[in-house]
Amino acid sequence: MNLIGRRCKSHLENMRANTYAPHFPKLIVFGILLSTCSSLGARDIVANEIEKDSNSIIRGGYIARTSNCISCHTDVKDGSPLLGGGRPIITKFGTFFSPNITADPISGIGQWTLEDFRNALTQGLSPQGEHYYPVFPYTSFSAMSAADSEDLWRYLKSVQAFKTVNRKHQIKFPFSLSLAPRLWKMAFFSFKPLEFNPKKSLRWNRGMYIVEVLGHCQECHSPRNFMGALSKKTAYSGAKHPTDNGYIPNITPDPTSGIGHWDEDDISWFLETGFLPDGDITSGVMAEIVETATSQLTTGDRQAIATFLKSLRPIKNPSLERETENAEEDW
Ligand code: HEC
Ligand code: HEC
Repeated sequence: MNLIGRRCKSHLENMRANTYAPHFPKLIVFGILLSTCSSLGARDIVANEIEKDSNSIIRGGYIARTSNCISCHTDVKDGSPLLGGGRPIITKFGTFFSPNITADPISGIGQWTLEDFRNALTQGLSPQGEHYYPVFPYTSFSAMSAADSEDLWRYLKSVQAFKTVNRKHQIKFPFSLSLAPRLWKMAFFSFKPLEFNPKKSLRWNRGMYIVEVLGHCQECHSPRNFMGALSKKTAYSGAKHPTDNGYIPNITPDPTSGIGHWDEDDISWFLETGFLPDGDITSGVMAEIVETATSQLTTGDRQAIATFLKSLRPIKNPSLERETENAEEDW
């Protein structure tokens, strides 16, 4: 690339650092670019690269919302900056604070390479070789496609850097020992790539990818053992709520303890609006997920989630058994 090309590119990089790129329409990027670059040849080359880049950032922003990177790494209550971290996550092992994942070189991940990022996201490993706690759902993200993690990386780099300093986790002993996440991973974590199932439709496969990987739905909806490991056998059948006495719902199609009476449209509508089929509205953390993630998906992606959830094996969860409507009528 010649000098003009390079200058145009760095101009764009500066611009990106100061904007929230996904909200920046591609056309505006192009408009500014075309008015500041004069050499025709260079302009074509740069325009192509930028198109690839800005599309990648837009796709990455979509993944960041779908995967809750934004909502978990932004402390909205404290008015902290986008992806600046500090959000408390309460678990039975203690309170964790999400770190700053903006591109700041000291407090954020500005010095990381794409490879460092992929190791963190898919292996739960820091650039210094430390192991992360599974409260960062790398257990689900481990099967993220290489293309998606690259788009996500470009998106993160496009967000304005902030110097917000990370807060120390408040973890109960013995989970506070640095050995704890390492032992946990040895016992419960293994990298499993997600396999495309050729016997199922494209929509089902897309739904599986969103539910199992990006949306990490099982991290809340599946029961865990005493060490916090997810049960695969009873996946999605509901779990004890970590912060109150209630239960997180069973989202398998079991008719009495799950969502067997919902059809695919009910599920899509719920993911878009938060309304349950009976007209009630979801609350708490799921309301947040609907607002920040599932309502922002494409209709096709919501339908894909619905198709996948309806195909799950129905599992009865006795703790979540609803009284049948007949019981009330009999009375
Ligand atoms: C449920 C909340 C949650 C979600 C969702 C989440 N993270 Fe995190 N993330 C955390 C926590 C907590 C840590 C710190 C883990 C530790 O210290 O062991 C972390 C750590 C990280 C780190 C390591 C940062 C460092 O300084 O070492 C990166 C990078 C990261 N997350 C990126 C992401 C991305 C990208 C996504 C979306 C694909 C995401 N996270 C989704 C909570 C979350
Ligand atoms: C951070 C935890 C968490 C994650 C992640 C999560 N959910 Fe939920 N979900 C909940 C909680 C808690 C509720 C119950 C909300 C309430 O009480 O109103 C819920 C409710 C639901 C319901 C309504 C069920 C019913 O019977 O009322 C559906 C459907 C659902 N979630 C689907 C999903 C899907 C699909 C995903 C992944 C894209 C997902 N959830 C990710 C915590 C979570």
